[in-house]
Amino acid sequence: MKDIYYDLGRLSALLAPNKTMLGKGAVGETGKEIKILGGKRALIVTDPGVMKAGLISSVAHALKAEGIDVEIYDRVEAEPPARVVDEASEVARKGRFDVIVGFGGGSSLDVAKGVAVMATNRGKIVDHVGVNMITSRGLPKVLIPTTAGTGSEATWVCVVTDEEANTKKSLYSHLLLPEVAILDPAVTTSMPPAITAFTGFDAFVHAVESYVSVNATPYTRIMAHEALRLITANLPVAYAKGDDLRARYNMLLASNLAGMAFASGGLGACHGLAYPLGTEFHMPHGKSNALMIAHVMAFNCMASLERYAEVAVAMGENIAGLSIYEAAAKSVDAVKRLLAAVNISSRLSDYGIGEKDVPKLVEGALKQSRFYVPNPRNLIEADIEAIYRKAL
Ligand SMILES: [Fe+2]
Repeated sequence: MKDIYYDLGRLSALLAPNKTMLGKGAVGETGKEIKILGGKRALIVTDPGVMKAGLISSVAHALKAEGIDVEIYDRVEAEPPARVVDEASEVARKGRFDVIVGFGGGSSLDVAKGVAVMATNRGKIVDHVGVNMITSRGLPKVLIPTTAGTGSEATWVCVVTDEEANTKKSLYSHLLLPEVAILDPAVTTSMPPAITAFTGFDAFVHAVESYVSVNATPYTRIMAHEALRLITANLPVAYAKGDDLRARYNMLLASNLAGMAFASGGLGACHGLAYPLGTEFHMPHGKSNALMIAHVMAFNCMASLERYAEVAVAMGENIAGLSIYEAAAKSVDAVKRLLAAVNISSRLSDYGIGEKDVPKLVEGALKQSRFYVPNPRNLIEADIEAIYRKAL
């Protein structure tokens, strides 16, 4: 009862794209959507991997069919450095483009969001780090994910790597939300099993962290709960049978829901502890989160027993007859089972990371304090160190 009162007694908001389209063949609608936005010259922002996979032709064809000029910027790097956004923004300004299309994984979508706003804002992308630091609206953007994980197409966030400071920096602005998000399972079927597993786990971590976040809202809990259910049931299928359209559809929907859930409800300690694995060991974002999530859930569990029991239920666990402690612990068992199903180890040592690396991981994680505020259990430096040591 107290919790319901709490929810009713505070303002809740849901940040979401203006329009979201979901279904097989949705990419074919991209040209029409750009015409509605008044676009005539589109810059597609993508990465070399997507180019190599030959996926770009489906989007380029849809744009050309509507008479839209198309150019491609394909130099997006993983964990995108700020300089990539600055370089692509210069391309967008000089080429006088009037719409930006992000096509690819989270890195391509984040760069596309940054480019769309920096096309009409002064300075460099790092000058706008923080909350609501972007002043000019920027160009309209259409975002099309080719992985099911980051949910970047549904969020008001853009994350870049500041190479000089060796850390990740985030921009938050409603101006980063796309005018149109297009979710087409057909462009995700060629994703290899390992990438499917890692990106799918990023979505899972968004869902679980936003579900237990102290800033969760009635909207975000509904979305996160459904995302947990969908991911548990569909990630192993998408991993085992990449061309299963139903599993791919459900994973895209889940990552989109989880994206909206965390963008409004917040993340937690797993993202804070995963980031240093990216900056120190160049581990992809989804992989680092997958590696840490079971350890962080085991640490957090006792601080939010009811919520973790609900996570267990969303993940299909039977908690009938169990104490609240046992029921909450079931969520940790369930995530371990899901990790095993898609062949991901939760041991840092399996990735060549050892005892000697712990101090710099702790140092890196301490820079990510914004993630510890919504986390259900407070963390001090000794807690962060203990979690890394348990993960060795
Ligand atoms: Fe993430």
